[in-house]
Amino acid sequence: MTNILVVGDGAIGLLLSHFLSNQHNVYVLTRKATNNTRFYSRKNSASQKINARFISLNQLAAQPKFDVILMTVKAFQVQSAFEQVKPYLTEHTNIVLSHNGMGNVEELKSELIPSQALYFLTTSMAGFKSNQYIVQHTGEGQSVIGGCNSLALKNISTMANTLKSIPKLHATSNIQQLRFEKLFVNIAINPLSALHNVKNGQLRDPQYNSMIINLLTEACNIAKAQGLNIPLINALTTAYNVMELTAQNYSSMQQDVINERPTEITAMCGYINEQGKVYNIKTPYNNQLLAKIQAKKSVV
Ligand code: PAF
Repeated sequence: MTNILVVGDGAIGLLLSHFLSNQHNVYVLTRKATNNTRFYSRKNSASQKINARFISLNQLAAQPKFDVILMTVKAFQVQSAFEQVKPYLTEHTNIVLSHNGMGNVEELKSELIPSQALYFLTTSMAGFKSNQYIVQHTGEGQSVIGGCNSLALKNISTMANTLKSIPKLHATSNIQQLRFEKLFVNIAINPLSALHNVKNGQLRDPQYNSMIINLLTEACNIAKAQGLNIPLINALTTAYNVMELTAQNYSSMQQDVINERPTEITAMCGYINEQGKVYNIKTPYNNQLLAKIQAKKSVV
């Protein structure tokens, strides 16, 4: 059995904790009450208790050593959350990042020693918290894990095997490409669903077509400048497939905006805007959505 620390108890953190605790000792770092039971709920089946231990920061030192630390906090929270758990890393702790949008990998790489592997996990699994303690699993989706430093690239199959209780988990040797592909999905869905307050499936309506094509054209130009080959037609096909698969869901950004929480817009359209400056590529559509979401309350 592996000791896994999940950092963050948002919807994805709770879903992953539920699946991983079927096989491993799972601890979840939370800022909320630690003694309340958390539940996993799927469609009409009976809710199940999430079989993990919920702990606060001041309880970390009293836990056994962690083999894996899975960071499920949002992109803009990764650096500060990592600083909090860093004192509890062993020489061989594996770090797995999982968030929407780009960034963080280079920063974390420079904080780790060569015997600490760094991975990134992208997931299209969908869920939301119907209250602080219940996660509703609303959408099937693939999860893909890839290595971000030399040790992780070498050990990727072992890590994928350790995390195999996550449904539909695959390993890839090119996580940067996968992260970009997921970024395209998020750029097509998240800001528009948040601005128009609609479910993912409603974005298939013709009124959104040209905006989605323009956003993804700009993102494809950035990917190309970075040496990645992601044809626009593939990016559009994947985005529309995810809209279909998650048609009845609200995106994470829609949920953030409606609940007046900070959003991940800087790691999505903000990343395209920033890379546009680096490569001297114009990105007016991403800039426009970045500004509109930033104009909402509580945005980072
Ligand atoms: O951020 C989200 O909500 C999800 O990444 C996705 C895939 C867009 C589904 O809603």
